[in-house]
Amino acid sequence: MLKTPVMLLVLCLVGAAEALYKQWIPDTNYENKTNWDKGDVPCGNDIVQFSAQRQVSVFVETSHAVQEMRMPLDGEFILNSGAGFYVLAGPEPGCSQGITTKFKDSDTLQWFNPALWQAAASLGDLQGGNSLFAVHEESVPCQYDDVVFKALSSFRVDTSSSQSSIPVKTVSVQGKVFDSGSEFSQYLSSGSGRLQFHGSAAVTVGNPGCEDPSGCECRNSVNHQQICSSVTCESLNCKTPLQPVGHCCQVCGAILTIQYAAGFNLQTYRQRIYHLFLIQSKYKSVQLGMSKILKPQRLMGMIPFGASSMIQVVIMDEEQGEISEALAFEIVNDARTHGSNLGITEAEFQASSGGSSDQPGGTAGLVVGILFGVLFMIVLVLILVLVRKGIIQMPLMPSLRRLKRSSNNEELGGPLDHGFDNPMFDKPNMLPDIPGLYETNTNSISMTQTGVYFVNPVFDERETDFNA
Ligand SMILES: *[C@@H]1O[C@H](CO)[C@@H](O)[C@H](O)[C@H]1NC(C)=O
Repeated sequence: MLKTPVMLLVLCLVGAAEALYKQWIPDTNYENKTNWDKGDVPCGNDIVQFSAQRQVSVFVETSHAVQEMRMPLDGEFILNSGAGFYVLAGPEPGCSQGITTKFKDSDTLQWFNPALWQAAASLGDLQGGNSLFAVHEESVPCQYDDVVFKALSSFRVDTSSSQSSIPVKTVSVQGKVFDSGSEFSQYLSSGSGRLQFHGSAAVTVGNPGCEDPSGCECRNSVNHQQICSSVTCESLNCKTPLQPVGHCCQVCGAILTIQYAAGFNLQTYRQRIYHLFLIQSKYKSVQLGMSKILKPQRLMGMIPFGASSMIQVVIMDEEQGEISEALAFEIVNDARTHGSNLGITEAEFQASSGGSSDQPGGTAGLVVGILFGVLFMIVLVLILVLVRKGIIQMPLMPSLRRLKRSSNNEELGGPLDHGFDNPMFDKPNMLPDIPGLYETNTNSISMTQTGVYFVNPVFDERETDFNA
């Protein structure tokens, strides 16, 4: 048996976006202590009470002694073979007399609550009871996921949503896998289906799985508000908490964004990160989640203009994010060195400790470029205005000056001050007559035994010889 941290790491990596099982955690089983108000399954002297108004589907695995049972108006018992209820002739020893035990209300459990789902790459992992790390939007079933409701159990889930349907690949109930839309909608209108699924949206199956080797976006952002309404964020104490795409809360750690090209394989890349870095003991406290996301693009950090697909890697640790930053740095270096083989065109990170990968020509460069562009335009316009008002004389712009001159002539009927004439620019045919000024003079850099010196062709060569 692997130790828990190792197990967690392995599971973090096998979490392929391609085929993920999402299992609903709560159940409405008679035998589950958490379903009873006194925290224990009723014993033979108890009065068992189901709220009359609540609809419920209860799975009963074995047989139980009860003293009295008050049934709901609309509900069902799903009895396992050999399961049932009986009444004892006398009081059961060790069970206090005449206590009413109520079955808890399960109406409030929502499909879009990320805490109520458990993810695994295979059914075997689900049975092992271990979970993957995922951002909140990816913790609830994605469109290409297989949804599992535990066999030998029943449940009640509120599917209320702002959308009219919740598309998934398959749904499995009581061990039966539904992959055809019509068959599942038939189940939903059956007695059990009606009691198990309630709420405004209909779960629909038959959505295609993820066929793209580079991964698929979960596309749960349409339900972001719904998902985050049941999440409470903890307070953080790192310097600059980060906001992963698809997560309801900020985190301490590091976020990498990876731009991919043809040939990128998400599953292979996950394995690479695991074998290169995560197995190292210094990263044993690290939690890592990797998925394809749609990242909203913003011009100059403010104006939104569309979204683009990229790979997001969220790294968290038990410290203040330093270990995550170190790992992020190693991953970025690896991506930049082996990017062409991996199908990675760009990788960068932000860390909550304040650090980031310096990415020349990245967004920062773009912003600076745009800022300088805007500044340049403003200065240019200002100069033009000043020139037109005659505040500045502009010998370098003959056409403008001529324009000004001719307008002056028209308005005032005579030539005014022309400024000074620049012989070089007013008479273009003169330009080639100045030798060496606009041609590249191959002799302008000379090498002597004492050193290299530069010759400005405008000056006399004899004057600028530093050896003279
Ligand atoms: C009982 O229900 C709780 C909460 O719904 C769940 O976490 C737990 O796994 C259930 N127990 C069993 C044995 O299934």
